[in-house]
Amino acid sequence: MTNTVDLRTFLRTRRSIRRFKSAPVPESILRDILHTASFAPSAHNRQPWRFVVLTDPDAKQNLSDSMAEEFERDLEKDNLPPDKIIKLVNRSRERITGAPAVILLCLDMTEMDTYPDARRKNAEYIIATQSAANAGMQLLLAAHAEGLGGVWVCSPMFAQEIVQKALGISKSWEPQAMFLLGYADESPAVRERKPLDEIIVFQTKQEEIVK
Ligand SMILES: Cc1cc2nc3c(=O)[nH]c(=O)nc-3n(C[C@H](O)[C@H](O)[C@H](O)COP(=O)(O)O)c2cc1C
Repeated sequence: MTNTVDLRTFLRTRRSIRRFKSAPVPESILRDILHTASFAPSAHNRQPWRFVVLTDPDAKQNLSDSMAEEFERDLEKDNLPPDKIIKLVNRSRERITGAPAVILLCLDMTEMDTYPDARRKNAEYIIATQSAANAGMQLLLAAHAEGLGGVWVCSPMFAQEIVQKALGISKSWEPQAMFLLGYADESPAVRERKPLDEIIVFQTKQEEIVK
């Protein structure tokens, strides 16, 4: 069992890794990582996370090409100059194709609770999304534990239908995020964190609560 100090160091030393060595990640390691991810907590223990694993270069190319088209359309709507658009689209493409393993995280609402009213429906949807995100975080930590680097990429959220089509997955698997994984070929510095006092309030006395 890892002791508290080791676990603290482990959690604080995870970095988002975006450049990878070309060495493949063995399928057994990917399975172990996903197995660990599946131990994440989820609302009602419904485990609404689903994963699609891509290691085949053609599959990654197909996904990155499909997403690039949508990304380009979105950037054109933002009125970015054409050379900037090309740069951003190519960077996104290269990141996907350059990662030895790409894991798509999806949300499946089919086993979650259903409600007749919009307020509870919306809350249940968010609760399910939070549950899926827990699995995503656990996946990144499991990769870190296996000596792999990885990064959470949110672009599938902006191209959900395109991703479903490119991968031929069910409509009930809603793409939420993509994880690029591999052996790190960079060691980025720690990204700055907000000071604790900016993000925490300790309410130690009832009279301090301003209503
Ligand atoms: C929900 C979420 C979405 C993210 N999306 C992207 C992304 O699309 N592209 C990217 O390069 N990094 C993405 N990141 C990684 C963050 O940029 C990174 O976690 C943050 O800068 C802190 O750096 P660190 O992970 O190295 O501590 C995302 C992280 C989260 C949690």
